[in-house]
Amino acid sequence: MTSRNLAVALGACATMWLGGCSDNTTAPQVEMAEREIAAATAETAALAAEVRQLAAAAGITALQRPAPVRPQLSLLGQALAFDKVLSGNRDISCMTCHLAGAGTVDGRSTSIGQGASGLGTARVHPQNKFVHRNAPSLFNLHVMSPLTWDGRVFTDAGGVVRTPGAPLRAGQRAVLEFGPLSALPMFPVLSRGEMRADAGNELAAVADDQPQRVWKFLMRRLGEIPEYRTMFESAYPGQTFDNMDFAHAGNAMGGWIAAVFAFNNTPWDRMLAGNDDAMTEVQLRGARAFLGSAKCSMCHNGPLFTDRKFHNVAVAQVGPGFGDGSDGRDDFGRMRKTGNSADRYSFRTPPLRNVELTAPYGHDGAIVSLRSWVDHYSQSDAKLRSYDAGQLEPLFQGTVQSTAEAILLTRDSRLRRLVLETQTVDEITEFLKALTDPGARDMRQVVPVRVPSGLSVDGAP
Ligand code: HEC
Ligand code: HEC
Repeated sequence: MTSRNLAVALGACATMWLGGCSDNTTAPQVEMAEREIAAATAETAALAAEVRQLAAAAGITALQRPAPVRPQLSLLGQALAFDKVLSGNRDISCMTCHLAGAGTVDGRSTSIGQGASGLGTARVHPQNKFVHRNAPSLFNLHVMSPLTWDGRVFTDAGGVVRTPGAPLRAGQRAVLEFGPLSALPMFPVLSRGEMRADAGNELAAVADDQPQRVWKFLMRRLGEIPEYRTMFESAYPGQTFDNMDFAHAGNAMGGWIAAVFAFNNTPWDRMLAGNDDAMTEVQLRGARAFLGSAKCSMCHNGPLFTDRKFHNVAVAQVGPGFGDGSDGRDDFGRMRKTGNSADRYSFRTPPLRNVELTAPYGHDGAIVSLRSWVDHYSQSDAKLRSYDAGQLEPLFQGTVQSTAEAILLTRDSRLRRLVLETQTVDEITEFLKALTDPGARDMRQVVPVRVPSGLSVDGAP
């Protein structure tokens, strides 16, 4: 019996007893229950202590919140992130894919970009087009580098923000206050599938190798809206709008994301801080397995549960892919950046805080439930070979690449011979739910009522 069940049983009995139970055998029962509770509590405390020790050994420390972001900068970032004016045909905003009312994701295996209508699971594209990958959440990115599933935006060893796809000018880099998080928002606006579109607007007409020109045209658009001029100038005191660059816009969005999506008030955090009752006994057992026998923390460590490195954990490739392989529907992951075939099918270890809220999972959303994701690590070679496309939405079911054997060639050696009992899978799944901050369950309060362009605001599905 868990201590929680005991507490309920005791509560019921004690009420009866205090209410004056005529049957005086109740009193000794209460004493027995109290002794059992004391034993269970001691057991939970011991387990919590063990988990704290294992966490420290794995380098899983408390998560610090970001330093306060100046309100005018954050307000500008919020407006831009929700404003469809940043997309070529003014039909999609950042937050259409990173829905504030849905864990900052869209609930799809891979996202649907511009030219579509509807939100979240109801979003449809007239030509059934999807973008290359699953939209990651925006949680706790104030301490995250590298960004994206293959680490295209990152801080190098010298502390310089790198964006190999489209190098930034020194003057642009000087504007970035929040590291890679300030630079990242400069890139979705360049992508034709995500925001820019193939035709129909002045941004789409720019050649793909002219990112600076797209950014310049975007600033021209924003400058036509007087409210934005005022907002930029209050966000960057002493500077005039006409001397600003899209890096100022990216930096504002990065600052806003850092400020509003940082969450460190989870049962896990309270347990780490010394509260033995913050997590359930099942969650504590799951944590012990995560940190020990199941080997999860060999990759998922640090305050965000990521080693910030790249690994192949035997995930089926589904969806449109990223232009790799013979038919262009494959995604070589980290190898796209390094050119090293040992990195084929490796992706960044994702952070796990609030992971309960961000299904489907993996770089392509190939696994739709949290429990199935945990379970896939058990005999992951067999699981990959017998991957069930039936879990996917109908449009994805016929898109599974028959690359299981190629994927297994570079699978991380730590997954070899890893077998998890059903009960362990259940316990680890429950543990992952202890990483949810109640504040992240519904963030609709960060959705503005209106944006300066006057275009519609997408906040919740
Ligand atoms: C069409 C949907 C879509 C739109 C619109 C979109 N994103 Fe994303 N976002 C994604 C996807 C998919 C990725 C992963 C890209 C990859 O790994 O190649 C991503 C990655 C990110 C990341 C990196 C997260 C991480 O953990 O590495 C951030 C931050 C982000 N987007 C913010 C933004 C901002 C700001 C905008 C608007 C300027 C935006 N996104 C527009 C889908 C979208
Ligand atoms: C060898 C390193 C490694 C080990 C060990 C590992 N993971 Fe992962 N994990 C990853 C990588 C890499 C991904 C992303 C894979 C992809 O998208 O193709 C991932 C993805 C995840 C996700 C999906 C998160 C999301 O946002 O989509 C969860 C949940 C997860 N791991 C939990 C676990 C658990 C639980 C264990 C232990 C049973 C574990 N991991 C063991 C590296 C690892």
